[in-house]
Amino acid sequence: MERHWWKEAVVYQIYPRSFMDANGDGIGDLRGIISKLDYLKELGVSVIWLSPVYRSPNDDNGYDISDYQNIMDEFGTMADWEEMLAGLHERGIKLIMDLVVNHTSDEHAWFVESRKSKDNPYRDYYIWREGKDGCEPNNWESCFSGSAWEYDETTGEYFLHLFSKKQPDLNWENEKLRDEIYKMMTWWLDKGIDGFRMDVINFISKVPNLPDAEIVHPDRPYQGGHRYFMNGPRIHEFLHEMHERVLSKYDIMTVGEMPGVDADEAALYTGEDRGEVNMVFQFEHMDIDSGPRGKWDIQPFTLTDFKGLMSKWQTGLNGRGWNSLYLNNHDQPRMVSRFGDDGTYRVESAKMLATLLHTMQGTPYIYQGEELGMTNVQFASIDDYRDIETLNMYRTEVIEGGADPEQVMRAIHIKGRDNARTPMQWDDSSHAGFTTGTPWLAVNPNYTEIHAKAALADPNSVFHYYKRLIELRKEHPILVYGDYTLLLADSEQIYAYVRELEGQRLLVLLNFTAESVRCELPGDLTDGEKELLIGNYEAAERDWQGLELRPYEALVYRFFC
Ligand code: NOJ
Repeated sequence: MERHWWKEAVVYQIYPRSFMDANGDGIGDLRGIISKLDYLKELGVSVIWLSPVYRSPNDDNGYDISDYQNIMDEFGTMADWEEMLAGLHERGIKLIMDLVVNHTSDEHAWFVESRKSKDNPYRDYYIWREGKDGCEPNNWESCFSGSAWEYDETTGEYFLHLFSKKQPDLNWENEKLRDEIYKMMTWWLDKGIDGFRMDVINFISKVPNLPDAEIVHPDRPYQGGHRYFMNGPRIHEFLHEMHERVLSKYDIMTVGEMPGVDADEAALYTGEDRGEVNMVFQFEHMDIDSGPRGKWDIQPFTLTDFKGLMSKWQTGLNGRGWNSLYLNNHDQPRMVSRFGDDGTYRVESAKMLATLLHTMQGTPYIYQGEELGMTNVQFASIDDYRDIETLNMYRTEVIEGGADPEQVMRAIHIKGRDNARTPMQWDDSSHAGFTTGTPWLAVNPNYTEIHAKAALADPNSVFHYYKRLIELRKEHPILVYGDYTLLLADSEQIYAYVRELEGQRLLVLLNFTAESVRCELPGDLTDGEKELLIGNYEAAERDWQGLELRPYEALVYRFFC
């Protein structure tokens, strides 16, 4: 397996709107990030993934871009951005930017032109179709509820938008459009960035005749057309072309966000000899609690389900591609609330989950606030929410569809994207020290207890545990590159595995429950002489013949060869 800096990196994601507000308008900004660079340095991360900061009308918080080469007014100026980049580089931290090229904003100059007339030179930059029998061109549902098509009166045709109607999809079949995207990417790389996180990049190639989706939910007006736009017919060709024309010319890292990708397909996207991307964000473990009706149809899951999925990716990409390791981001609930215990064992379970992420093969990603053990939030009213996906769903289900509002609010409390977007909790002053104004989304009321100032001062905090995990990955290449073998596959309490590299061996033991659990390991593991690399409780003498793991305990041992 080839060794690369981006395999050894630990990435920290900043969602700028919620990170730090320097000018008191209630919205996080670039100068806010600049004021926290030493905090990031202290944590020890090597790469920042910055969610979009480009000019945008903010229908989807910057994932609707109206100008790829300018900075959003609320976030500051290009000079601020340059200062931020220089500040990161001075501290030895790299920067990857979000690349959102499946769609633009409807306020992007290309779309403004495109919608003017059928023969406009930009018409074919987007996906326009005539209606069918007075209805939309097909029955696809948008990822943000409702039809994926919007009728445009000026020319009497519909345009495709897989997300909001202010996010029209770009037409990647058009070579001129692809040239423009590659030029724009080159422009950013020449400004000194270190790579891209690519938004829903496996959606860019659609099956050209855009067939109707199968009717899976007859009670719904629109259906998921995923098989006609996920991992579409020309996707590998487009990514390879992007690699040849742009990416291969720089020493950078790339990660493609790819819903609906399986490990075999991911091995193609990330295979080292194929020239596409370095790694992908897969979604199988994020969809583990989604039922047949999608993400809001929340189903219980077991630890064996979870281990099965994680292990499939660990072994599936070993030697064939590369994994990204994450349990939350700006689109997902907080991991400690979802996979741990955000009550009594918040600190223990946050550290246990961190241990999992940082001791598997792949590149770990930390989402802002994860290093503090930040939790989900339960706002009382839908009016307290800001996320377009959540608001559209609520409107469709409750206001138009008559669903029980309490049940829908329960689902929002568990799965809504605003769980992750409440402002970063810096201290216990008003609005958690995030802003001196009124925050665009309220802070989580638990900020008085959970905040960075307290975490920095407490050597046993979640923050300091992350710091140590990050150091360990630098000290022990086996954590990055080692093979992974699952142990105790049938246990519903314990997640255990071994990592091996060039004759060295590590043992990872994780208790996923709030009870003490007895751990029965094979003899060669109990007997071998070993040292504790890290654990989330005070170290204690262990009886290896009857090993007990304390609630949410995490232990990582290194064997002496
Ligand atoms: C994925 C992004 O992570 C999400 O925040 C966004 O809403 C959609 N793509 C559309 O850009």
